[in-house]
Amino acid sequence: MHLREKNAVITGANRGIGRAIVEKFAKEGACIWACARKYSEPFEKDMSKLSEQYGVWIRPVYFDLRIEKEINDGWKQIISEKKTIDILVNNAGIASGSLLTMTSMDTLKEVFEVNFFSQVRMIQVAARKMMRQKSGCIINMTSVGGMEHRPGYLAYGSSKAALIWVTRMAAKELGCYGIRVNGIAPAMVDTDMGHFRKETEMQKIIADTPLRRLIRPSEVADAAVFLASENASFITGEILRVDGGRV
Ligand SMILES: NC(=O)c1ccc[n+]([C@@H]2O[C@H](COP(=O)([O-])OP(=O)(O)OC[C@H]3O[C@@H](n4cnc5c(N)ncnc54)[C@H](OP(=O)(O)O)[C@@H]3O)[C@@H](O)[C@H]2O)c1
Repeated sequence: MHLREKNAVITGANRGIGRAIVEKFAKEGACIWACARKYSEPFEKDMSKLSEQYGVWIRPVYFDLRIEKEINDGWKQIISEKKTIDILVNNAGIASGSLLTMTSMDTLKEVFEVNFFSQVRMIQVAARKMMRQKSGCIINMTSVGGMEHRPGYLAYGSSKAALIWVTRMAAKELGCYGIRVNGIAPAMVDTDMGHFRKETEMQKIIADTPLRRLIRPSEVADAAVFLASENASFITGEILRVDGGRV
């Protein structure tokens, strides 16, 4: 088990890639604060089932990433438990597609609120705690969309490009405290967000992908386990592409 005795905070834990990361981390022995936007009974049940299955504690924590006070209250709850925080996986995010000239400032701000500002806030709070611990690992879910300048993705692409920048910068600032900061850049993953595009665009992207298929959420989760584990102990400031060869 690669993450035995590690405690991890994972956002967007209720579905998609985040849910897959929770399951893989639990399987690898990590205890988890599973963060979701709002309370739901199926989520609570799902988390307690995983907890029983893998013999680790998993605590649901609820906050909306658009609301700073909720983020801060969520962290108060996590920090009040007086446990080490070994890993933060900043996974939650939203998709958005529209042309440069058609994108409203409100859309741009909303996407940055979730995909960038809230991520920075999460990194700040986690890093302060990890600096005191003199150890920690932060993984940001970026995207090949933040690297490849695809037309029609002004808000999403630029928010992820900004997150890539912060990832590399934070690795430099925090390395001396024993904190590693890395990103994962998936291409099109088989989740609700992956299917956000039109079918014709999806088929074109698959045709342009050397491995000719969508990525499974579990394959992104495998990359997160690797980056969080001792196997990646000297890797920081890296953006690990999980893209089937696309970029
Ligand atoms: N799928 C892809 O093709 C792809 C490719 C590259 C990168 N990514 C990145 O991977 C990450 C996960 O994507 P996914 O495919 O798993 O997406 P998804 O299935 O749409 O899930 C998104 C997750 O983020 C949460 N979230 C969104 N806005 C939130 C908010 N304001 N507060 C709290 N939680 C919020 C959602 O919660 P709710 O259920 O409450 O909405 C959900 O848990 C994202 O950062 C995404 O940009 C995805």
